[in-house]
Amino acid sequence: MKNKISIAIDGPVGSGKGTLAVALSKRLNAFYVYTGAMYRELTLACLRTKIDINNEGEVLKVFENISIELKNTDYGVRAFLDGQEVSDEIFQPLISKTVPIVAAFPRIRKEMVLRQQEMAKDALGKGKSVVMEGRDITTDVLHDADIKIYLTADIKIRAQRRLKQLIEKGIKTTYDEVLEDLEERDRQDTQRTASPLRVVKEAVVIDTTYDTIDQTVNKVIAKLKEKNLI
Ligand code: DC
Repeated sequence: MKNKISIAIDGPVGSGKGTLAVALSKRLNAFYVYTGAMYRELTLACLRTKIDINNEGEVLKVFENISIELKNTDYGVRAFLDGQEVSDEIFQPLISKTVPIVAAFPRIRKEMVLRQQEMAKDALGKGKSVVMEGRDITTDVLHDADIKIYLTADIKIRAQRRLKQLIEKGIKTTYDEVLEDLEERDRQDTQRTASPLRVVKEAVVIDTTYDTIDQTVNKVIAKLKEKNLI
């Protein structure tokens, strides 16, 4: 048994990464890092400064001059951009639509990965376990993670889950719009040249289509026990 562990989770939109990561971090008293929020915050900063979003150099300049902070609270992850809370704003449809442009830039990804590795190192150094989720955590960010998990689910179920999340956040949209958006984002996530979403051979692959949250969490807990990590 280890006293602090690192868990890397990847998977497409709506596969349940966030829900699983929150449940695991509560159970293990771990630091949860939602890396998608970081790409969203950078996108928001770019839109606010009105730079040319298609110009990697300009986006990089914005990135170098902002502070991105994630805080774990009892009410979920709170995102701060230059000290100001932007937790809801980063889920606006314009951000969701624009973020893949920013996330496709290799120099942005390189810098983002460094920041995320730093966050993980810092937490582990303080004796805290880490649960990190995104699209390149198992492939690039946490090479030495104690466990790597790839979540997947049927796209129709993912669209229903995403729709529920967006409605809860007060964003007006429809099932068809969400489904179309997911298809496009799956394409962008898996086909971009810089760190595309993919399954690494050592990953534990879990299909969450027919699972309740508790069932998925229990599968991961069973794996952690099997590996003698908890
Ligand atoms: O997880 P999410 O849907 O909130 O992520 C927002 C965007 O950021 C999405 O386009 C994928 C991208 N992303 C990424 O490229 N790498 C990550 N580690 C996390 C998110």
